[in-house]
Amino acid sequence: MTPPKPPSREGRVGLLGYARLFRADILSAQPARLYRAWMAEFRTPFFRSYMMNDPALVDVVLRVRPDDFPKSGRVREGLAPLLGRSVFVTNGEEWKRQRRIIDPAFAGGRLRDAFPGMLAAAQAMVDRLDDGPREMEEVASYAAADVIFRTLFSVPIDDRLAAQVFREFRDYQRTQPLLNLAALVPLPGWMPRFHRRRTLRAAQSIRAAIAALVDRRATEIAEGTAPDDLASKIMTFPDPDTGHRFSPAEMVDQVAIFFLAGHETSASAFSWGLYLLATHPEAQARVAEEGARDWDGFAFGDLSRLSFTRDVFRETLRLYPPVPMMVRQTTRPEVFRGRTAPEGAQVVLSPWHLHRHERMWDRPDEFDPQRWATAEAKESARRAYIPFSAGPRVCTGAGFGMAEGVLFLARLVGAFEVSPEGPPPVPVAHLTVRARDGIHLRLRRRSGAGQSRPR
Ligand code: HEM
Repeated sequence: MTPPKPPSREGRVGLLGYARLFRADILSAQPARLYRAWMAEFRTPFFRSYMMNDPALVDVVLRVRPDDFPKSGRVREGLAPLLGRSVFVTNGEEWKRQRRIIDPAFAGGRLRDAFPGMLAAAQAMVDRLDDGPREMEEVASYAAADVIFRTLFSVPIDDRLAAQVFREFRDYQRTQPLLNLAALVPLPGWMPRFHRRRTLRAAQSIRAAIAALVDRRATEIAEGTAPDDLASKIMTFPDPDTGHRFSPAEMVDQVAIFFLAGHETSASAFSWGLYLLATHPEAQARVAEEGARDWDGFAFGDLSRLSFTRDVFRETLRLYPPVPMMVRQTTRPEVFRGRTAPEGAQVVLSPWHLHRHERMWDRPDEFDPQRWATAEAKESARRAYIPFSAGPRVCTGAGFGMAEGVLFLARLVGAFEVSPEGPPPVPVAHLTVRARDGIHLRLRRRSGAGQSRPR
């Protein structure tokens, strides 16, 4: 069965029509030719936009001259109420300084320290589940938020402050329908944008709960009682160039993005991965085999034993990249495939289109985890696979997200058989790629496997 793909737009539309479609859903607003084109230019009276599928151009923007293609002020403006000046929105020297402090905490060796938190969250998720129908995006969001709190602050999601952040964030997303990629695109000023006051209030409330977590940790660090988790590592590590450490206020901005970028993305990938396995029983059987083990004492290094599950997760990130598009802007006139783009033009990189590009992937819309064992897929991936972006601005949590995705798939499918329930989900791009009406699966506990001890 070919996994669900949103319908493409048919025919041409004017700016206003495009803006309307775009706000409803970015993926179905695009014409089918973007799955074949190397580049698409979009000219309007207000702005120019270039979507790039040509690997050489993607390379220039992300790897060769990233400083010439910063995130736009609009990205910062749209997300500032929640994210302040976090690493996700800053540019230039400020961004480099932040990455020098953050990156070491997420480096390979350090992930080993964070892994027990992930394992405990996976166990807690399996313990919460039962036989019967379930909407899996909700399960996945809760579990992924649990991972973030356990690895960052050594507390489970039922900690009072952690639960408050999670709950308030849900409300924020409900009141703030434009916390999605459409907010990043320059639309004419008369198009309605934000529910400004409600949004600001919701963002302030989330930040207050995060600030309380950070303050609690700052006190523990000062008293010498802090656990050695990601928050402690980041708050105590000095910038090797300047010796500067994050102040608690700066740390609030960073925690806000770790929480947002770290749980929305993982939850999206995990729930799509489960859906793909539910609809591909042979692949599910192989993942179940890898997941049918005694998880006590399972360590970060043991992940390499889950090699088929890893290929399933890679294939999931190909078909449903949680971040479907990324936006940058030009800082001077540029020539892209013979066309001159003015300064301030928008550059769109689309993992969604690259990963399903008909000229770069064999059977691009099919789910085939085994392709990852072939040299051909590796070559396609080298040219057209960027679920975590690439270059110096690559996702800081890439290794973390991969480990989490593989562990969670194997852990859940090792314990439960999953089958589809109701009509197939329809992918839409909110902040991440989600299913329009959720991902509904039926769970049935496998006999003898994955049963946890009473806790
Ligand atoms: C499957 C899981 C994940 C996926 C697919 C993913 C994907 C991405 C992508 C595509 C970007 C680049 C966005 C852009 O440049 O516009 C990004 C950035 C980022 N991600 Fe992730 N991410 C994942 C998990 C995580 C986790 C677990 C964390 C942290 C705990 C995290 C933290 C970040 C941060 C801080 C940035 C901003 C980096 C910068 O701009 O310098 N991500 N992520």
